[in-house]
Amino acid sequence: MYLRRMKTQERDVMVFRTIEELHDYLATARERGDTVGCVPTMGYLHDGHASLMREAAQHHKVVVVSIFVNPTQFGPSEDFERYPRDFERDQAIVAEAGGTAIFFPSVEEMYPSGARSTIHIDGVTEMLEGAQRPTHFDGVATVVSRLFEAMLPDEAFFGQKDYQQTLVVRKLVETSPLDVVHRVKITVLATQRDADGLARSSRNVYLSTEDRSDAPVIYRALLRAQNAFRNGERASDALESLMREELATVPRLDVEYATAVDATTLQHADHYAQGQSIVLLIAARLGSTRLIDNVVIDPQA
Ligand code: PAF
Repeated sequence: MYLRRMKTQERDVMVFRTIEELHDYLATARERGDTVGCVPTMGYLHDGHASLMREAAQHHKVVVVSIFVNPTQFGPSEDFERYPRDFERDQAIVAEAGGTAIFFPSVEEMYPSGARSTIHIDGVTEMLEGAQRPTHFDGVATVVSRLFEAMLPDEAFFGQKDYQQTLVVRKLVETSPLDVVHRVKITVLATQRDADGLARSSRNVYLSTEDRSDAPVIYRALLRAQNAFRNGERASDALESLMREELATVPRLDVEYATAVDATTLQHADHYAQGQSIVLLIAARLGSTRLIDNVVIDPQA
């Protein structure tokens, strides 16, 4: 029934390549009364993913981690082919962080020829990442729905680094006609950072030594605007100028956006109300690497 099983010092991690096999495993777990947490990933796991797995393991006996580099969320000129992959290393991280199973499907398993349609979520996909990468969120919504159908989770864990993605996933769940998708609880955990503030990302492996030393400017820019907001600044122009001023200290950084928007709707306004939650978001390129990061500011928190 199981294609591969790995023994580590910590625990056994089952590996499933097909939905049918995974469903058998989950059915047995459900019979025992276990609940299921899942962590959807594209692999090349890092501490951010491990923290999601650890949290999932606190709440669920069964923790399924999916590893699938999803072709439909990459644009034609993006990095699908060169996206980093290292399954052996990922297995060890899953085992260490408390995952109980890995779902590692093929493209054909996820997208059987001609059998699936695309899911489009509107309202939170047109701007920011959606404007830069027009087909990206259709790919994300479609694969997350399919992954939930495969992993049948009670709860799914995502990182805040992909902030807009978390809103897309929440809306997918709210609006899905499929009970197995609609019932999933979505939990979003704080972005994990290196000591100098750089958000952990699988794509950080692309950074040259020079890129890596310049990259923390993104978090510094977010913190400058966050600080101003905390000191009462509510004008988006002023918050954005502060971020751009900091980002300009690294002239080779190519900024795609540096913006302050409403945290729920992602709508941009000239001024934000006193009690309003906003999110500061930056996307920028360093050499051939595209980096994104964000800080959410909840004035009530
Ligand atoms: O955040 C990611 O790694 C991916 O976008 C996801 C959610 C696994 C879908 O492919």
